[in-house]
Amino acid sequence: MLGALFVCLSLSSCSGVQSALDPAGLEASKVATLFYVMLAGGGLIWLGVVGALFYATRTGREPHSERSAGRVILWCGVIVPVTVLAALLSYAVWLMPNMRPWAPGGEGGLRRIEVTGEQFWWRVRYLRADGSLLFETANEVFVPVGERVLFVLKSPDVIHSFWIPSLGGKMDMIPGRINHVALEATKPGTYRGVCAEFCGPSHALMAFSVEAVDAAEFEDWIASRRAGRPAADPGGLELFLRHGCDACHAIAGTTADGTIGPSLTAFGARGSVGAGTLPNTVEDVARFIRYPDEIKPGSRMPSFGMLPEGDAERIAAYLKGLR
Ligand code: CUA
Repeated sequence: MLGALFVCLSLSSCSGVQSALDPAGLEASKVATLFYVMLAGGGLIWLGVVGALFYATRTGREPHSERSAGRVILWCGVIVPVTVLAALLSYAVWLMPNMRPWAPGGEGGLRRIEVTGEQFWWRVRYLRADGSLLFETANEVFVPVGERVLFVLKSPDVIHSFWIPSLGGKMDMIPGRINHVALEATKPGTYRGVCAEFCGPSHALMAFSVEAVDAAEFEDWIASRRAGRPAADPGGLELFLRHGCDACHAIAGTTADGTIGPSLTAFGARGSVGAGTLPNTVEDVARFIRYPDEIKPGSRMPSFGMLPEGDAERIAAYLKGLR
């Protein structure tokens, strides 16, 4: 009874936006299937071992004859585990080519999204077929449902690891080399990507959102990110430029073209600030502008606690208005 309750409670946490056991992509489905097959195989071996244990410890009967004990050991200790393990190994080896995160040489025609892991955020660049830049955004990835896309993975500082559990397996991002992973979303929805390699004090505060949408919505999104909507509050932009935010940040359609920090084009349309750290509200953005290091230790964003009263809020409101 307690065991069943435990199993139900643990399985209830297997769904959601960041679960490899609630797949929304081709590659993730294979990972989930492999897990359940391994679980079943492990369960079989466990039953065999427990069965043998019960047999060995049963009381109140004649002592086991040497022959029957030998038979039990042979079946439960050798034949069942060896057969099950051999079957599991064969299945996993057979599945491996299927689970390869990319098809070597076959990725030429795929849509390419370059993702760079930075301490502690994600630079996301959509590329044209010839490899030139279409536009850059940060901490958000949109993918069309039913289309295999190739993620080109880089890092300028330390090793990070790119992982969207709902869509597929993870891949390291290593300074000085370029890795690839191809993923295909099969279900529309919002998922969560994370950094899966310890990369510094704010490693746990390094997430991104993944939206799998239909083709038409995807094209609309591309168009909106390329254009950037002009600011509703030009006074906010003036403060943004006066305080030097444009040294690190870019906003499409303005003179701000910094490349050190995340692009802020269409910032207001993002669900969170600081790579999934805080909700995207004017209050939280202003707090992040003033004390980034308190919120995200090790962040390269300088502290702007010295801004005159109200300026951070005014800039935050301006950013929130960018779509
Ligand atoms: Cu980046 Cu952990």
